[in-house]
Amino acid sequence: MQRGQFSSRFGFLMAAAGSAVGLGNIWSFPTNTAESGGGAFVLVYLVLTFLLAYPALMAELTIGRHTQSNVVGALDKLATGPFSRIAAKFVGLGGVLTASMILSFYAIVAGWMLSYLLVPVAQVTGATGAEAWLTGGSPANPGNWWFFTAIFAALTMMIIGKGIENGIEKWSSRLMPSLLGLLIALIIYVMMQPGAMKGLQVYLVPNFDHIGPNLILSALGQAFFSLSLGVGTMLVYGSYLSKQENLPKLGASLALIDVGIAFTAGLLIIPALFVAEAAGTEIYADGSLIAGPDLILQVLPKLFESMGSIGMLVSFAFFALMSIAALTSSISMLEVPVSYLIERFGLSRNRATQIAGSLILAFSSLIVFNFASLFGLVADLATVYFEPLLGAGFCIFVGWIWNRNSLINSIAEGAPEVKDSLFMKIWPTYVKFFCPALILLVLAQTLNLFG
Ligand code: TRP
Repeated sequence: MQRGQFSSRFGFLMAAAGSAVGLGNIWSFPTNTAESGGGAFVLVYLVLTFLLAYPALMAELTIGRHTQSNVVGALDKLATGPFSRIAAKFVGLGGVLTASMILSFYAIVAGWMLSYLLVPVAQVTGATGAEAWLTGGSPANPGNWWFFTAIFAALTMMIIGKGIENGIEKWSSRLMPSLLGLLIALIIYVMMQPGAMKGLQVYLVPNFDHIGPNLILSALGQAFFSLSLGVGTMLVYGSYLSKQENLPKLGASLALIDVGIAFTAGLLIIPALFVAEAAGTEIYADGSLIAGPDLILQVLPKLFESMGSIGMLVSFAFFALMSIAALTSSISMLEVPVSYLIERFGLSRNRATQIAGSLILAFSSLIVFNFASLFGLVADLATVYFEPLLGAGFCIFVGWIWNRNSLINSIAEGAPEVKDSLFMKIWPTYVKFFCPALILLVLAQTLNLFG
């Protein structure tokens, strides 16, 4: 069967940036920053992105482009003996499972974004009943959460069903420039409001008292989640990449775009929080800044309301930004199980999309209706434990199982100048020893293995 491919470097960059730039950038990054010492968190995050996340990203992209295969097939192709073949199954299927777990809770949050997107529409048309319904979901009353989760899952499936070039690439190339435009317009507007400068200060002036193991841990988790690492998303996108491209350069552009948009989103969210304060909304709870869902679903909507009729436009733009960011990320998660089903079982793309999509939606529904006990658990298991662990697994495959000459030739394919680059002098050794060791060390910390 003919495999799909991205039609251009730009198409790949938009798709991969679309995967990386998501609620992780526009929601988690600014709220984590607000909670943990402003600029200090930003600094640690930047350092970790280039020290650990970029090398791990390169591991996935190289494996993908070399093997031109889904995540399970790719690791299997690299395996050299019975032991590494078993490891390939473990890490590969672990990736498929974790990507599906991430999508199952991500789609719920994305559903909230869709429902809030419709609030200004309900306001303009005077449908007050609809407005109350749109914002009235809760763990005790999850009906509308389920409804919008299902709509979001359907949108994701529609794009993935259309394939690489006509689905992923086409929609990412449309949506990503709109995302950037919305983000910049919103920043300009918020910066002109009273209170914005105070927020800018909190964001950018580091408070080094906060730096400690916890901050480092959450910054590492943030860096991995933000670059979509550890589940084979980037591996699969790399497998649709032509062999003409300079991989280290593409990977570096991708990391820069991701970090750049996270940083820029901070320029929107944190000042907006302080604009809300200036407009009379409480932004502290128990002595620290309100973060997480309350920030996005309560503080900001109150701010939009206080702005009068232009607030409806601003609110619409904001939740459109969030929904777009979520959609270009969720398609990259669904592609992991879909590409596996297609290549392993010879299914058609539509069939594979229906099967993977409905299984994941069923799991999402389970979470929605048992929100209090399942949501945090699934999110933590997948992002705090499985992602870094599998990320270390990809690095180990590159460093220890893949023959080094073949690795070097594969990266340099299409870009011979890479052979003499600084990247090539450092990375192969780095990814073999440092990456897995550091990832496992941080993980051991999380599990409190050192007491
Ligand atoms: N990176 C995305 C974000 O920042 C989320 C994401 C997409 C993701 N694909 C992933 C996270 C794969 C982990 C694994 O929101």
